[in-house]
Amino acid sequence: MSLTEQLYNRQASGWARNKPEILSDFTARPRVLELAGDLTGKHALDLGCGEGYVSRLLRKRNAESVIGIDISANMIDLARKAATSGNEHYYCSNVLEAEVYKPETFDLVLAVFLFNYLTIEDSGELLKRIYLSLKPGGRFIFTIPHPCKPFMAKTEYPFYFKTTGNYFNARNSLFKGKIWKFNGDSVEVSCVHKTLGDYFKLLFEGGFSKFPIVEELFVTPELLQIDEAFFRPIQGLPLHVLFCLEK
Ligand SMILES: C[S@@+](CC[C@H](N)C(=O)[O-])C[C@H]1O[C@@H](n2cnc3c(N)ncnc32)[C@H](O)[C@@H]1O
Repeated sequence: MSLTEQLYNRQASGWARNKPEILSDFTARPRVLELAGDLTGKHALDLGCGEGYVSRLLRKRNAESVIGIDISANMIDLARKAATSGNEHYYCSNVLEAEVYKPETFDLVLAVFLFNYLTIEDSGELLKRIYLSLKPGGRFIFTIPHPCKPFMAKTEYPFYFKTTGNYFNARNSLFKGKIWKFNGDSVEVSCVHKTLGDYFKLLFEGGFSKFPIVEELFVTPELLQIDEAFFRPIQGLPLHVLFCLEK
């Protein structure tokens, strides 16, 4: 069993939620859903779907069907139990081995904090398959921890990765980290470090040649108003990067 499977099988229940609880439920996922837009009649693929939090929100936005893939059997069990309709389908598989990448199948592909679990080489392979499986005009939206953040911040509450090496020589190194929830609990996360340049190169090689939307996500003033003590320690830091690409 891979380290990622072990990590997520062990703490699956810590991820189970039906409302925003984890820091990135406030700082990243709402923007992903906004860019996903109205999904009426659309077919979506959610790679690294976890226990289905985002997949369920896609269905709430009227997606015709959602397929979720995750390597952790315990996460997939939770996703199946929490499914809101028969049009959500969850499969336990490594995204690199899943048999879902048929040509021009999906209107939307998401990968919310998946690529930080993949090496540079595996990311490149997956991006080619995602490109193939998108319909012309389809969208691919993904988020990653901002690759600069681990080098700019302390290893402390409410979100960190512990670095080895520097921004350039640590490429493909595994950084372990934690991200906190509103209730004071935390979940363990990890990140196979890649530079922003790596992502752009891999996307281009994967077939994505249109200019992308790229957003560096951070703590907004509105979030500080929700809970100043929670968000204040990471105010002003680049937390995540969101990429939105069109085929
Ligand atoms: C940070 S969690 C995010 C879960 C979900 N996307 C969300 O936003 O709530 C990352 C997920 O990616 C899954 N994952 C990591 N590597 C994977 C792989 N190679 N194949 C399938 N799933 C993978 C993990 O099991 C975990 O559930």
